[in-house]
Amino acid sequence: MASPDSTLFDKVVNLCKRRSFVFPSAEIYGGFRSTYDYGPLGVLMLRNVKDAWWRSMVQLRSDVVGLDAAILSPPQVWEASGHLENFSDPLVDCTECKTRHREDQLEDPNICPACGKSGTFTEARAFNLMFKTQAGPVEGAGADVYLRPETAQGMFINFKNILETSRKKPPFGIAQVGKSFRNEITPGNFVFRTREFEQMELEFFVPPEDANEWYEYWMQERHQWYLDLGIPEEQIRMRPHDEDELSHYSSGTSDVEFLFPWGWGELEGIANRGDFDLLQHAKHSGQKLEYFDQGTGERYVPHCIEPAAGATRSMMAFLMAAYDEEQVNDDTRTVLRLHPRLAPYKIAVLPLSKKDTLLPKAEEVLHMLQPHFMCDYDITQAIGKRYRRQDEIGTPYCVTIDFDSLEDDAVTVRERDSMEQTRVSTNELVGYLTEQLAL
Ligand code: GAP
Repeated sequence: MASPDSTLFDKVVNLCKRRSFVFPSAEIYGGFRSTYDYGPLGVLMLRNVKDAWWRSMVQLRSDVVGLDAAILSPPQVWEASGHLENFSDPLVDCTECKTRHREDQLEDPNICPACGKSGTFTEARAFNLMFKTQAGPVEGAGADVYLRPETAQGMFINFKNILETSRKKPPFGIAQVGKSFRNEITPGNFVFRTREFEQMELEFFVPPEDANEWYEYWMQERHQWYLDLGIPEEQIRMRPHDEDELSHYSSGTSDVEFLFPWGWGELEGIANRGDFDLLQHAKHSGQKLEYFDQGTGERYVPHCIEPAAGATRSMMAFLMAAYDEEQVNDDTRTVLRLHPRLAPYKIAVLPLSKKDTLLPKAEEVLHMLQPHFMCDYDITQAIGKRYRRQDEIGTPYCVTIDFDSLEDDAVTVRERDSMEQTRVSTNELVGYLTEQLAL
């Protein structure tokens, strides 16, 4: 088993700030704890993570459709889902130092980790993790709304709409990517646990008798997705939940876990939710949420298998897994060995020098590549330094325009991991890079 590396965490967090992947939010005002802004490279990479998920879960399948449901939702949704009642953490206050803690995370339930005093805790109180706000100009009863703590309920409350309009029948799924909000008591470890984050969730509705088979299927599919995108086998595992860990809705859950520098942490949960959600929403809304097969006259409430992943958390795992340092001559080369699909830029176009004679040709090559690939264009500093800058942000290929390019209409293509260089004619460049990147 690979061992956790605590300096890796600092190195990646530092790189994220320095190279504009992730900034602490509201930094000019001293920061806003545990919220983050995704900078020019972070927004590209996060989008790539979400696109890779969407490609695999929606685009390459004919049994899944997409959805983008509202973030604001009325209390009825959360009453039916069980979140109003159950989505809480047990909190205790220390009467001595006035700090607040999650009781279930205390090493010793009698000792305050802040002041070390014993027997100073209040009785535990259930603290609901949902953010509540008001809709409309009048405060008070009837105006309460919630920021969704998961995207999943959007799929359940649209089950009927989608079943009636999409010509799908079980087994079929509804996929959604978007922001969720939880008033986490112990956010931390960079973007691993934040109060505002992005999820990528699929609710896959199946005939009840096929639920176990589909549960197994989705566990394998989801495990493979991370492997295909470059997470090494020894850094990812499936961990089935123990009975006492299961959520109120689940008859079986397995987590996909990544070996973070501090140990194993969840990237995704795959849950067999049974018919809990559709039955709850049917009960609370008074609507029939079931499948009726007109051919056979069969009627049933589908069971639901849910692979629920974190986009922001997965991005962090991909960064951690990709970070590498290697000795090249007397120099340490930092390289993000990101899968090309996830890399913020696929190509960097680099004129060998800033000389006027080279720039028009370099811009011509850039404009030729831009419709096909996300490209960076960098004309400052020595070429070696520019290669290193691109290595550090994971750009798979650098395209260098030199003085020979003006004569032979060819460029040098440098591959990130091997640093090998190949001369390619510009009229074959798009085809060559398309083949190499294999997106
Ligand atoms: N609908 C089921 C559900 O939401 P979950 O395990 O609570 O399940 C799914 O969340 C995924 O969302 C987690 O595996 C994690 O990747 C991500 N996630 C949950 N809370 C998060 C937080 N506070 N910050 C970042 N990501 C989070």
